[in-house]
Amino acid sequence: MQLTERINRIQISPTAAVIAEADRLKSLGVDIADFGPGEPDFPTPDHIKKAAILAIEGNKTKYTPTGGIMPLREAICAWHKRELGSDYAPKECIVTVGGKHGIFNVISVLVQAGDEVIIPGPYWVSFPDIVKYAGGTPVYVQTRPEEGFSVKAAAIEKAITPKTKLLILNSPSNPTGGVVPPDEYARILAVCKKHNVWLMGDECYSHFTYAPHKPFSIASAPDSKNNVIIIGSVSKTFAMTGWRIGYTLGPAELVQALTKLQSQSTSNPTSIAQYAAVAAMTGPMDSIPVMLAEYDRRRKRIVEGLNAIPGVKCEMPGGAFYAFPNVAAHLSGGESGHAIAMDTAELAKLLLDKARVALVAGEGFGAPGYLRLSYATSIERIDEGLRRLDRFFTRVEAAA
Ligand SMILES: Cc1ncc(COP(=O)(O)O)c(C=O)c1O
Repeated sequence: MQLTERINRIQISPTAAVIAEADRLKSLGVDIADFGPGEPDFPTPDHIKKAAILAIEGNKTKYTPTGGIMPLREAICAWHKRELGSDYAPKECIVTVGGKHGIFNVISVLVQAGDEVIIPGPYWVSFPDIVKYAGGTPVYVQTRPEEGFSVKAAAIEKAITPKTKLLILNSPSNPTGGVVPPDEYARILAVCKKHNVWLMGDECYSHFTYAPHKPFSIASAPDSKNNVIIIGSVSKTFAMTGWRIGYTLGPAELVQALTKLQSQSTSNPTSIAQYAAVAAMTGPMDSIPVMLAEYDRRRKRIVEGLNAIPGVKCEMPGGAFYAFPNVAAHLSGGESGHAIAMDTAELAKLLLDKARVALVAGEGFGAPGYLRLSYATSIERIDEGLRRLDRFFTRVEAAA
């Protein structure tokens, strides 16, 4: 089939591929310890579901303005101000079909051939591919496990060239759980301002930060508005991944361009989901500390369990719900001297086939030698998965 050169620049998301294979095995009755999906295992809170039911019953089922209904844009701005200390008006806010759609649209309106986009690595799988699709060139800045995978302003400045258009900063990070502390984030913003580079903050995990970290938005920094674009989402914060509602905050002129693009592509996000999101943004937030406390318990359990496995090293993530262990010791050229696999792509496949554990290989995140395990699953399944991993790696060690 003759497809465009553009579509051939990108690949299907590697996380989606793992989830599909694990689901296929599960549908055949295979018992999988599943650390694949990057989504809360909690249900959407009742008051949000009720708002959607009311919207259906009240016939709020027609087209809405492209950029979202005014009550939702107002609610987003008020929520962001209250929770994260920003100061946006509805004309600086657009509702999108999830945070990913917002990222795609921002990159589409700002990035073209010849532009460079700085992406700290390990990175979320979609950032580079969206940049490539827009014709831009991703430029990676590696973060280090011993620094909690937190990027530094000096490293960003070193990577800036006259072609740099945008920096994508995802804190807390998927896949590493790395969190950029507010003082470093302010230094990064200063670097971006100095070099006239846009800073796009992906805050999809803003409310999943573990002490001593706190939810933070760079939009709360004084004088940030001309350089900063915020990507947010109700997906993780309110356990609403399937509803597909996100938002972008930024200068009004940029929001106008985003609205133009949206008007010629998706049109408005689903009307019913928008009414549900109004309830999320204006209603009680008591589900969040409950989820956070449970994730924290799981985080400690999984990191401890992983570090107890020979040849596995895992930092304690500061946010999100992913553990990101280094397993390079078990790969070709690794310290163990008896490699189980060439790379983590092969290792992840072996783990699914032989140990019945689903997880995502590091290659897709620009981190060969690492695995990503989502701990958005029950503590019982985490324990079962850890037992399987321990058995797998210990048996291979013993056989060597
Ligand atoms: C870092 C990051 N950004 C954005 C998203 C997009 O989420 P959604 O499109 O569901 O809002 C995800 C989802 O996994 C993510 O991990």
